[in-house]
Amino acid sequence: MARKFIAAGNWKMHTSIQEGVVLAETIASGSRPSNVQTILAVPFTHLTTLQKKIKASSKVILAAQNCHHKESGAFTGEVSAQMLASIKIPYVILGHSERREYFHESNQLLADKLRAALVAGLKVIFCCGETLDIRKAGNHVKHVQTQLVESLSGITAAEMKQIVIAYEPVWAIGTGETASPEQAQEMHASIRAMLQKMYGKRVADNTSILYGGSVKASNAREIFAKADVDGGLVGGASLQAGEFLQIINSF
Ligand code: 13P
Repeated sequence: MARKFIAAGNWKMHTSIQEGVVLAETIASGSRPSNVQTILAVPFTHLTTLQKKIKASSKVILAAQNCHHKESGAFTGEVSAQMLASIKIPYVILGHSERREYFHESNQLLADKLRAALVAGLKVIFCCGETLDIRKAGNHVKHVQTQLVESLSGITAAEMKQIVIAYEPVWAIGTGETASPEQAQEMHASIRAMLQKMYGKRVADNTSILYGGSVKASNAREIFAKADVDGGLVGGASLQAGEFLQIINSF
């Protein structure tokens, strides 16, 4: 199995640049296992400064939290994948539930964003996940499969090397309520089975699938211990260096 373990922090719309520098430097200088990739998804305004501040030897990787699906144009306020590539940012998060909910991003639009990111040479953390209503109705597995099939439909097996999946149940994001390790494992196994159907066993085995939704130092170990959970996409707890470092050390 060649897939990577990943601890990714999603800072969302938090921190001033001054706070961000301190946070990133503390995380980058903290002790972390060498087999776990650390990714920080920070606000656009922070990317170039943090790139200069974080030592290359720390192996902390920066990510943007979104990009536009067009290369350039009259889209006031937007940032393209090409622009991110031009400042050598390696990763972008796409399909976060907050983008889907507040900015009405559809599976089709996300397919276009995925294409744009890959064309620009970016790697993608692609998010999926169901709301509480969908889970209560027992439709969560189907819902997540539809999200993935509709957005990944144009992606080839070779391109899947550039993609990490993050399963983030909407009801567990920022609520303090976490999916149980068993619930996470059930969904991750079904995502991997779906990837196997679409792309074959090698791609399925090599794709990292992260869990996100109220991951904390106190619950990370038991979630990451599950066979199909390859790490976490962490919101609130990634804003505290000590807490996030404990999470990174929970594999
Ligand atoms: P929390 O860890 O704050 O629940 O956020 C999860 C998330 O949305 C990460 O992208």
